[in-house]
Amino acid sequence: MNYSQPTTHHLPIKFGVIGCGRIAHRFMQGLPEVPGASLAASWSRRAETVNAFAGQYGGIACSSLDELLASDIDAVYLATLPDSHAEYCIRALHAGKHVLCEKPATINLPQLDKVLAVVKETGLLFMEGMKPPFYPLYVKLKKHLKSDPIGDVGYVRAGSSVADISNDHPNFSYELAGGSLMGIGIYEAFLAIDWLGSTQAVQAMGHFGPTGIDTFAIFQTKHSGGYAQVYTGFDLHGKGDALISGTLGHITIHKNWWNPGRATIDYLDGRSVEINEPFIAGGLNYETIHFCDLIRNCATESPIIPHEMSRQMIAMIDEARKQVGLKFIGE
Ligand SMILES: NC(=O)c1ccc[n+]([C@@H]2O[C@H](COP(=O)([O-])OP(=O)(O)OC[C@H]3O[C@@H](n4cnc5c(N)ncnc54)[C@H](OP(=O)(O)O)[C@@H]3O)[C@@H](O)[C@H]2O)c1
Repeated sequence: MNYSQPTTHHLPIKFGVIGCGRIAHRFMQGLPEVPGASLAASWSRRAETVNAFAGQYGGIACSSLDELLASDIDAVYLATLPDSHAEYCIRALHAGKHVLCEKPATINLPQLDKVLAVVKETGLLFMEGMKPPFYPLYVKLKKHLKSDPIGDVGYVRAGSSVADISNDHPNFSYELAGGSLMGIGIYEAFLAIDWLGSTQAVQAMGHFGPTGIDTFAIFQTKHSGGYAQVYTGFDLHGKGDALISGTLGHITIHKNWWNPGRATIDYLDGRSVEINEPFIAGGLNYETIHFCDLIRNCATESPIIPHEMSRQMIAMIDEARKQVGLKFIGE
């Protein structure tokens, strides 16, 4: 694995955005906070979408993916839906571009392994956009625990069920590889693996909505370091905080834990420590700063979201989907 250090010299990084929807706008909200980074080009399936995007943020509005990949860009931010991630990652890498790919990186592990084979062949950087560990709160929390630990962490409990997503949202689309496990469960897979280590067993249950995707699921997992229990859904209103338990105390990352801004650590000795670190500019700026530093350090993967972490996250969701009974097209 290549490790990278934050750089102080901000060699310019020109981005091409693929898929100009909701999250791409949030990416652009954060980009002014990323030293040296700029938008050079964008492409989306519909001309009106890309024209509006380029009109708002600048850069070239491309009429095809080939045009975008042939343009003067260093990296792509891939913000389409998971059904097209593997194909577009591979095309971008073959065109010599580094890839920051929205979560979930691909529909399943076999697809991700195809992408990673091309990463290896091209020697370019590939990182899944798994944002929580880059937020200032998460960074400060981990730093605090180094000097004031909660002992051996052995249990993680987290949830996110958001009942206010409209029915035409891609999360409800079977064809676009939606569902609560893919949309939100992937964050919880991250949390479990980050605190508890590699996955050893998965048990999942869930139910489907009328569009054929899981609208609620729970899964519990066994890891090298302990156990996790999580829920994810679109048809119940859930709390969205996270509990991380250790032998000497527990952490609550307050809602919404995947956009963290506040945590409380309760120690066995009665102390309670509050950590407040609000995020700015939508929050994607932190992972993008890291991604740009990795490019400048000629890294092919992130030490924070390494390729193996992405493999383990999607493998966990693959197994949970299998147990819930959700197979996507082509699987
Ligand atoms: N990191 C986060 O906080 C976060 C939050 C939400 C979502 N996400 C992830 O971001 C991704 C996108 O989600 P979203 O909510 O932004 O979806 P979205 O609003 O539907 O945006 C996706 C855009 O990509 C374009 N598109 C879709 N399929 C395409 C294709 N095959 N080729 C070219 N363009 C295509 C569509 O634009 P046109 O068809 O109009 O061109 C659409 O507007 C998903 O992977 C999701 O899981 C991440």
